[in-house]
Amino acid sequence: MRNKTYIGEISNYKDKDATISGWLYNMRSSGKLHFLMVRDGTGIIQVVVAKNDVDEKTFELCKELPQESSLKITGFVVEDKRAPSGYEIQAKNVELVHRADEYPITPKEHGTTFLMDNRHLWLRSSKQHAILKVRHSIIRACRDYFDNNNYTLIDAPIFTPAACEGTSTLFETDYFGSKAYLTQSGQLYMEAAAMSFGKVYCFGPTFRAEKSKTRRHLTEFWMIEPEIAYCDLDGDMDIAEEFIEYIVQRTLEERKEELKLLQRDTSKLETVQRPFPRISYDEAVKIIKDSGLEFEDGNDFGSLDETIVSEQFDRPVMVHRYPAAVKAFYMKGDPGDLSKALCVDVLAPEGYGEIIGGGQREDDLNILESKIKEHDLPMEAFDWYLDVRKYGSVPHAGFGMGIERAVSWICGLKHIRETIPFPRTISRIKP
Ligand code: 4AD
Ligand code: MG
Repeated sequence: MRNKTYIGEISNYKDKDATISGWLYNMRSSGKLHFLMVRDGTGIIQVVVAKNDVDEKTFELCKELPQESSLKITGFVVEDKRAPSGYEIQAKNVELVHRADEYPITPKEHGTTFLMDNRHLWLRSSKQHAILKVRHSIIRACRDYFDNNNYTLIDAPIFTPAACEGTSTLFETDYFGSKAYLTQSGQLYMEAAAMSFGKVYCFGPTFRAEKSKTRRHLTEFWMIEPEIAYCDLDGDMDIAEEFIEYIVQRTLEERKEELKLLQRDTSKLETVQRPFPRISYDEAVKIIKDSGLEFEDGNDFGSLDETIVSEQFDRPVMVHRYPAAVKAFYMKGDPGDLSKALCVDVLAPEGYGEIIGGGQREDDLNILESKIKEHDLPMEAFDWYLDVRKYGSVPHAGFGMGIERAVSWICGLKHIRETIPFPRTISRIKP
């Protein structure tokens, strides 16, 4: 089946015969004509089956085809400015590859649980198709950004001996009689690798046993994490803003049609240009309090707090120097005020909240050891990580971006569950 034609390339066949292979999306009939809307993943095209152009069996077949039946169609390609793809096929032959059962997803409104139970089929719907096309472009842009800037891809392990992001969200597994955890982040491994390669990144699935249901949390999500040797917090923020600008502008160029189908207001993405505002945690707290919301100093931000802060700006805002007490053990203290960490969260506009978390790492062996103790973490699981501070320790920094958070924001979605092909949440592990 090599010489078939894809609908996305149909313009090459103008005024010629072509054979497409796809699925029936929709159809209507009027007397001597059937109009089949056929999709093949690269596009949708109208196929006109005229009683006079095909044999009787074919015409009868097309009369009652269930949605999602798979078809192979040969016909003559004509330009039609009114058609969605700009072309139409006048059928000469229609071959039924498989007659579908009655399809459960219809154009009527369905509830979210029903759609999620049928996620394996829902992926065929135009909106879901568009979201995953955008996701694909975002991932490619992320990789291109780091690849084009001389980072080396270093894959991090999935089974890990210890927590990176706190013990409350660990997934524990039995590892031949001892305990292992699914990784929460590849960061600690990237720190080791940065001392060999200078600039590295990893990209893979990460896991958090998030016990609450929110619009922003999955239990399995994909994270891209760069780590840079000889880099401080300011340098880290420079990279984060250049990276975000790049992926947003690339996606805007590459996925115009999909963003239009999703009714995304792209003017709100066009403003995503450097420089991004940089404010301290203390300044962010002032914004929250000035808005009239109650806030206790020293606390981490909740999603409402993040929304209020990000609403002040028309592009992502970088909030730095959170209280060390609410952040992970590996963060370096701010030499000017050791109660603060040299960290940054990048908050997306329009209420999308944190898309990036990162910062400068503690590079002093003794301080790091005492932080591991303070956080009540098992020292023996971190002996290898401490070695990174024994043999040529240098200032270094990095960050992690959750791909699904970025997709949710760029597509303008209400809920993160549609940004990943098969979402995993506290209440869902199927399909
Ligand atoms: O802020 P987090 O926890 O940072 C880290 O994991 C660092 N070790 C990263 C690093 O510096 N290399 O997570 C980073 C990002 C968040 O900003 C968010 O985009 C995403 O990961 N994220 C989640 N996305 C979906 N569901 C969840 N449960 C997420 N938790 C974090
Ligand atoms: Mg975070």
